[in-house]
Amino acid sequence: MEVVANAKAMTELSLRWRDSGRSIGFVPTMGALHAGHLSLVEISKSMADRTVVSIFLNPAQFTEDEDLGRYPVSMEEDQRLLRKAGVDALFLPGSEEIYPDGFSTWVEVEGMTANLCGEYRPGHFRGVTTVCTVLFDIVRPDLAVFGQKDAQQLAVVRRLVRDLKLGIEIVAGPIVRESDGLAMSSRNMYLTPLQRTEAAAISRGLGFVREAVSRGVLDSEELVRNFRSETDSRPGLLVQYARLVHPETMEDLDRIEGRALFAVAVYSGETRLIDNVLLEPGTDPMEV
Ligand code: PAJ
Repeated sequence: MEVVANAKAMTELSLRWRDSGRSIGFVPTMGALHAGHLSLVEISKSMADRTVVSIFLNPAQFTEDEDLGRYPVSMEEDQRLLRKAGVDALFLPGSEEIYPDGFSTWVEVEGMTANLCGEYRPGHFRGVTTVCTVLFDIVRPDLAVFGQKDAQQLAVVRRLVRDLKLGIEIVAGPIVRESDGLAMSSRNMYLTPLQRTEAAAISRGLGFVREAVSRGVLDSEELVRNFRSETDSRPGLLVQYARLVHPETMEDLDRIEGRALFAVAVYSGETRLIDNVLLEPGTDPMEV
C-alpha cells in the first residue's frame, strides 16, 4: 500500500493507473476505521482495479460546538487494517493540502441539505460536499463508495456528482451493524457500557418501523410513534429527529407511497448517533 500525503503525488499516481487502463475506486473516510468502512473497501475492490482510501478529519464539516477536538484517531491501526484489506493507496493529506491559506471556495447542494442532519448541523453538508469535490479532483476515481448509514450524505453526494457532471459512479454500501443491531460508527467509542447497551434501542425501534410497514402502516406519525415506543422509555436516549422522508430529495413525507426513508438522530449523553431504514411497501423492506 502506497501512503501518499501530497495531493499532486496522489493525482500523478491515479493518472498513471488510468493511463495503463486501470479503473480506480475511492473510499473517503475520516479514520478511526471499523468494519463498516472496510465493507466499503471490499465493494470498491470488487468493482475497480485499484482502490484508494483517504483519511482526512475534515474540520469544515464540524459545527463549532461539535466533537472535532475529541474525534477518535487511530492512525497506526487504520493503516494496518487497510494494508490487510489490500488497499492500493492511502491518501493522507495534511490540512494545508486540502485547505491552503486563503481557501475561500465552497460547494453547496441546496434544498435537500435543509432537512434532517442539515437542520441540526448548519454548514455540515457544505463541508462534506466541498471536501468531496476537492478529494474527487485529487484522486480522479471512476467510482466512489459511500455508506448507506449516512443516507442523507449519500443522497447529497449523488446530487453533487450529477449536478456538476463529475462523471463518478457513486456506489452505496449497506449498513454494517454490531451483533445487537447498533450501526457501527467511529462515535460508538464515546459510549459508556451502559449507554452502549441502551443504544441498541435505536435499531430495535427501526425494526418496529419496518414491521409496522409490513403490517400495512403507512402513516408517518404512526411510524414515528412505533420508533419512539422503543427509545422514549430509555432515560439516557434523546431523539433529535425521527422522520419519514423521500430517499432522494429528503423531503418530509406524510405517508409512504413508494420508496421512503425513515431516518433518525438520537443523542446518548453527548454522543449523537444516526441510523435509518429504507422502506418499500409491498416488498420486503430493505435496509439502507
Ligand atoms: P466517515 O464517518 O469516516 O465515514 C466514511 C464512510 O463510511 C461514509 O461513506 C460512511 O457512510 C461509511 N460508514 C460509516 N459507518 C458505516 C456503517 N456502519 N456501515 C456502512 N458504512 C458506514 O462520512 C464521512 O466519514 C465523511 O463525511 C466523508 C465522506 C469522509 C467526508 O469528509
